[in-house]
Amino acid sequence: MTGGATSPVPADCVSAADYERHARARLPADVWAYVAGAGADGLTQRWNREAFDTRRLVGRVLADMRAASTQSTLFGAPLPYPILLAPVAHQKLVHPEGELAAALGASAASAWMTVSTLAGTSLEEIAKESGTTLWFQLYMQASREDTLALVRRAEAAGYRALMVTVDAPVNGVRNDEQRAGFRLPPHVRPVNIEGLPQLASRAGPGESPVFKGLLDGAPTWADIAWLRRETALPLLLKGIVSPADAERAIEAGVNGIVVSNHGGRSLDTLPASLHALEAVSERVKGRVPLLLDGGIRRGTDALKALALGASAVMVGQPVMHALAVAGPVGVAHLMTILRAEFEAAMALTGCATLADINRDVLWPTAWRANSSEAG
Ligand code: FNR
Ligand code: LAC
Repeated sequence: MTGGATSPVPADCVSAADYERHARARLPADVWAYVAGAGADGLTQRWNREAFDTRRLVGRVLADMRAASTQSTLFGAPLPYPILLAPVAHQKLVHPEGELAAALGASAASAWMTVSTLAGTSLEEIAKESGTTLWFQLYMQASREDTLALVRRAEAAGYRALMVTVDAPVNGVRNDEQRAGFRLPPHVRPVNIEGLPQLASRAGPGESPVFKGLLDGAPTWADIAWLRRETALPLLLKGIVSPADAERAIEAGVNGIVVSNHGGRSLDTLPASLHALEAVSERVKGRVPLLLDGGIRRGTDALKALALGASAVMVGQPVMHALAVAGPVGVAHLMTILRAEFEAAMALTGCATLADINRDVLWPTAWRANSSEAG
């Protein structure tokens, strides 16, 4: 897929980090500021990476890998490998075909994809063009009628799960975006919710700018209980870092939890996704599958997340980078790279199946030889 004279992929693009570098060089500064999108001082975004980087693996040799496989089952469907496309809004910012290009690339690489409520293409059209399992990411709308209409459309179009994002009722403090003066250009529109009333600040001078208007209509646990009764689709909550909230989500009847800090784009100084996963996983004890996103850039990151209790991981920013650099081919290439890295990491830690991946692949902190190394 790389290197050929007609390939859109630069020859030195062989990792997620390479796609990031090339995308940064190509995208306008304001679009880059949106995609890179850390909240406030970017601490959580940095910690996401640090948490993966400071974990060591225990290499194991001579394991029998003859029946090795990355296959598992999630909500009753066969999942070829546990790395999915996270919901990412406004993909036409970086490629003219936007979500359709991403879906094509995902399909070519047998990766599952989560389509954002803020997609720039109709969710039906994406489903029609896609050859892979799609989930729908739901931002609850200001009225239950509007929310339900979106859910019914996703059901009718064949989406296999609903992922309700619950960690962004207010925008993160996106200072980079603000400094760069980012605005959505007119050709990038959230067509699936266009025309629906959105919650907005109604604060007059001297009034509470966030609580008035934005949050007095934001979803609560009662809305999750309501949604649970309204749909038979598997329901996931995305954006949980607190074990107490994970418990509450299970009580509300959800089928899965996405441990996520929104890639560091929402509340800054939330813990690293990997650290939150450890805490949530300890509490949930396998009652529902956990997914993780935030900072996944290598196959080894995915392995570490699975070792700490995730059933699968998702990538966000890397999808935008790959789309920007090489469209559908880039997305397919990125997912193939991540899968190959993950398989190599399994092989070199002696894990033939996902069921073999557990804490034993992680180097215990107590064994560390060099006290200058965190971990
Ligand atoms: C996002 N994310 C996101 N999440 C969501 O639930 N709905 C959305 O519409 C969006 N939009 C969005 C746009 C862009 C440009 C980015 C980068 C991210 C968050 C996304 O699903 C995911 O949680 C993070 O991107 C994961 O972190 P990484 O992989 O980007 O480090
Ligand atoms: C973001 C919103 C769209 O992260 O979720 O940009």
